[in-house]
Amino acid sequence: MDQVRYKCDCGGLIEIIHSPQTWQKIKRAKFDERKTSRRPEDISGVWRFREAILPGVNDWVCHPEGRTGFYKRKKLSDYAELENLYCKHEGENPTGSFKDRGMTVAITQAKALGMQTVACASTGNTSASLASYAAHAGLKAVVFLPDGKVASGKLAQALGYGATCLAIKGDFDAAMNLVQKAASEVGVYMVNSLNPFRPEGQKTIIWEALQDLNWQAPDWFVFPGGNLGNTSAFGKALREAHAAGWIDRLPRLATVQAAGANPFYNSFRNKFQSLEPVTAETIATAIRIGNPVNFSKARHAITSTNGLVIQVDDAEIIEAKKQIDMSGIGCEPASACSLAGVKQLRSSGEIKESDTVVAILTGHMLKDPDCIMQNYGEENLHVVDATLEAVAKYL
Ligand code: F0G
Repeated sequence: MDQVRYKCDCGGLIEIIHSPQTWQKIKRAKFDERKTSRRPEDISGVWRFREAILPGVNDWVCHPEGRTGFYKRKKLSDYAELENLYCKHEGENPTGSFKDRGMTVAITQAKALGMQTVACASTGNTSASLASYAAHAGLKAVVFLPDGKVASGKLAQALGYGATCLAIKGDFDAAMNLVQKAASEVGVYMVNSLNPFRPEGQKTIIWEALQDLNWQAPDWFVFPGGNLGNTSAFGKALREAHAAGWIDRLPRLATVQAAGANPFYNSFRNKFQSLEPVTAETIATAIRIGNPVNFSKARHAITSTNGLVIQVDDAEIIEAKKQIDMSGIGCEPASACSLAGVKQLRSSGEIKESDTVVAILTGHMLKDPDCIMQNYGEENLHVVDATLEAVAKYL
C-alpha cells in the first residue's frame, strides 16, 4: 500500500488481493443500508463498497461518483430482441464516463502516497476524469493524448479542468508507451488501468448493477473493450462477489471490440494463444487501441466466467448508438458496442430469449457531439425563415 508499483516480480501487472478477514467482516446488507445515508462516501457508488476496495482509508477524494441509472427501454428490447435487457449508464458519472469510478480510488491513493503529479495516456475519458479528480485533490495533472483523435467534449473537459494536455504525434498505444517511461524515469504517478487501484474502483460498476438487480445475478454483462481495464475489473468483481456469497452464480462476460481495433477478439478466436497488436481505426475513438495493456488479466476474466469476445463494425456501432440516442438515453459511440453486441449475440443464439442481460453504457452522449452531426443529427435540423408559415409544416 505504501509503494509506487505497477508490476509484479514476474513482469505481469499487480493485482490487489484482499485478505480473508476483509471478506469475513463484510455484510452485503450494509451496502444496501448505505444507499439511504446522506454522507458522500455512503452514497458514492464506489465508496459504498469501501471495505472491499481500499480498506482502512478514510480520506477519500470523492465527488461522489457512481449511483448511475439503470434503464429498461422497450425500444432497445425490440431492437435487440430481448425482453430482459437493462442498460447501466456509466455516462452519468460526474465527468460523463465510468472512468470516475477507478479515478476516485487512484487519486485517493496518489494523495495517500504524497504524490505531486499524476499522469495518464488516454483516448479522452481517462484524461477528463484524471483532470477533474486531480483538480479536486489539488494535484498537478498531465495527460498524454493521441493528437487529433480525441472527441471534442473530452478534450474540452481535460483543458477546462486545468490539466496540462500533451497532444502526442502518434496513436494511443504510442502515448501509453510514453507515459510508462515518464512514470519509471521521471517519477510521475501513473493512473492508467495499469495502476492496480483503478480496477478496484471499476469493480463497482458490476457490484452496483447487481445491487440494482437486488443481487439476482443476470445471465450476461455485455460491454466494450479497448485497453481491457473493464474486462479485467469485471472478472475480478464477479469472482469476488461470488466467492463472498453476494450472488449465487457467475454471470458470463462478453467483451465487444470494434472490428477496426480487435486484437483481443483475434486472440480469443485463436484460443488466447497470443496477442498480436494491430494498428487501430474506428469511429469509436475511445476504443481506438491496438495493443491493450490489460490483456493477461482480461483473458483470465473471460476464461473464468465462461465469457466471449466478439466484434462489431462501425456501421453496427452507429446504428446501435442511434437507437440508444433515440430512446432518450444517449451514449457515446464506444458505448454503443454494448447494444450492438447484445443484438449480435441474440441473433447467433448465444444469448437466449429468456436471459437477463446488463449492457454497460460507458460514456455520455455529449462526449462526442461531432459523431451525431456527421452521421444522423443533420436529418433533424432544418433552417427556416422566422415566419409561422415556414415552421408550420414541421409542427
Ligand atoms: N468505453 C469508453 C467510453 C471508454 O472511454 C473506454 C476506454 C472504453 C469503453 C474501453 O474500456 O479500456 O477498459 O477496455 N477509454 C480509455 C481512455 C482508454 O483513455 O479514456 P477499457
